[in-house]
Amino acid sequence: MNADISKVLERLEKQSELEKSRKIYVSPEDKMLAITKETGELLNMILRLKKAKNVLEVGMSTGYSTIWCAEAIMGKQSRIITIEQNTNKIARAEKNFKDANVSQIITIKSGTAKKVLSELNQKSKNKELFDFVLIDADKENVIDYFDLILPMTSVGGVIVTDNMLYPEKYKEHMKKYAEHIKKHQNVHSITLPIGNGEEFTIKLE
Ligand SMILES: C[S@@+](CC[C@H](N)C(=O)[O-])C[C@H]1O[C@@H](n2cnc3c(N)ncnc32)[C@H](O)[C@@H]1O
Repeated sequence: MNADISKVLERLEKQSELEKSRKIYVSPEDKMLAITKETGELLNMILRLKKAKNVLEVGMSTGYSTIWCAEAIMGKQSRIITIEQNTNKIARAEKNFKDANVSQIITIKSGTAKKVLSELNQKSKNKELFDFVLIDADKENVIDYFDLILPMTSVGGVIVTDNMLYPEKYKEHMKKYAEHIKKHQNVHSITLPIGNGEEFTIKLE
């Protein structure tokens, strides 16, 4: 892995560890709430296997997961569109992307996920579809996000959703989400006990 990228990932992992172990106080709105390193590695592998080019992320925070995705697809005429509503986190992510030297393939959409996804949905009618999507924003609206994202996903495209099994407080809601996904005829989906629990959904013909 490129040294600039691994340096930033390691720094963010240390920060995330301090935050999760509560060794430092971080206000709720400033928390990274990042995916685990294991999940980052899994996303990176999926992107490489798929040779993905068009990535969408819902819930960027300070960019830890975005950098894992960027590392897999750099230099292949690829792009990542990522959505975040917290302007302070956007500023932190921009610095992390610059330090990791991945800014050139990342477009940050500032705003609420539903609004940005609805706009992308309108624009996507005649455009290239996403071949990989990570859903990791608020959990309350996750079903709406999925329904907006599925039409923008290519056949064979993968949608990964974080926090299926942990934290405990989301478990019931995420179970309903998994049931909602399985109502669709044109997807195949499984819950993987990796990291905080990852839903792995593939769009079929
Ligand atoms: C779990 S964190 C994302 C962590 C990130 N994927 C990572 O691994 O580094 C969720 C992020 O989604 C953002 N968020 C929550 N609700 C949102 C919404 N409705 N629209 C846009 N962003 C939202 C939060 O500000 C937070 O930064």
